[in-house]
Amino acid sequence: MRPVLAARTMSTLALAGISFLTAGCARLDMQDQPKYKPQRPSEFFADGRSGRPELDGTIARGELHEDAAFYEGKDAAGKDIDAFPIAIDKSVIARGQQRYDIYCSPCHGRLGNGLGMVVQRGFKQPPSYHIERLRNAPVGHIYDVITNGYGAMLNYAQQIQERDRWAIVAYIRVLQYSQNASINDLSAEARAKMPPPGQAMSPEMKNAMEAEPMASPDKDFTNFPANPATPAGVPGAMGAGAYKSQPEKK
Ligand code: HEC
Repeated sequence: MRPVLAARTMSTLALAGISFLTAGCARLDMQDQPKYKPQRPSEFFADGRSGRPELDGTIARGELHEDAAFYEGKDAAGKDIDAFPIAIDKSVIARGQQRYDIYCSPCHGRLGNGLGMVVQRGFKQPPSYHIERLRNAPVGHIYDVITNGYGAMLNYAQQIQERDRWAIVAYIRVLQYSQNASINDLSAEARAKMPPPGQAMSPEMKNAMEAEPMASPDKDFTNFPANPATPAGVPGAMGAGAYKSQPEKK
């Protein structure tokens, strides 16, 4: 059997070699076939376009967003949902914190009080997340704000994927809780560590602080001018006099 097989293999290789050579001369491959490049006009179709329009209702693979709760934050009746459509655990919240600090804190502030750096430089101040209305807003509303924007706030649908939007919503709930918790929410053990009424620090915290005093304020930070005049011509800088267009605060 073996010699026969070997002979066959040889002749196959030889044939392949010959066809390869001929292809090299005549180029009877797909590279030379008539074809349209994207957006090229065509005389074949009545509308003059070579590309055919999609049929109504065409959905790209992977884009069938049937789960309205997850993709839109809405229930079957189109109302904002009030329960998370994904499981929330510590890692989701940590991801949400990271995404929030990147995308939202420039305006809403790290604490969610609406006093981010962009706002301090003149952008419209958003409401604090700690007002009654937003504390009670369903999670679907906050998701909707990220997805579709709200008033002066643009949407973040292009920058932030659905799952990350929910992670951010979860983190906003954490921020809200952090500013509106009751002492009764603490375990007995944690409560015992609280400072006595009327005092800012527990004896334990005081000892810890005295053992390791706080670092002195960063000189670069304290010397940072309140009205920085960025030199013109610096890439990415706002340019000298960027602040002059605003009326001086007295
Ligand atoms: C460029 C500044 C800016 C950024 C960045 C920004 N927001 Fe906002 N946001 C605003 C402003 C301004 C408003 C108030 C809009 C209005 O009332 O016209 C607002 C309002 C909101 C509200 C309140 C809506 C209501 O019902 O009153 C929520 C919730 C919110 N933003 C969430 C987010 C989240 C989450 C992010 C990050 C993904 C984010 N924002 C990023 C500026 C910003």
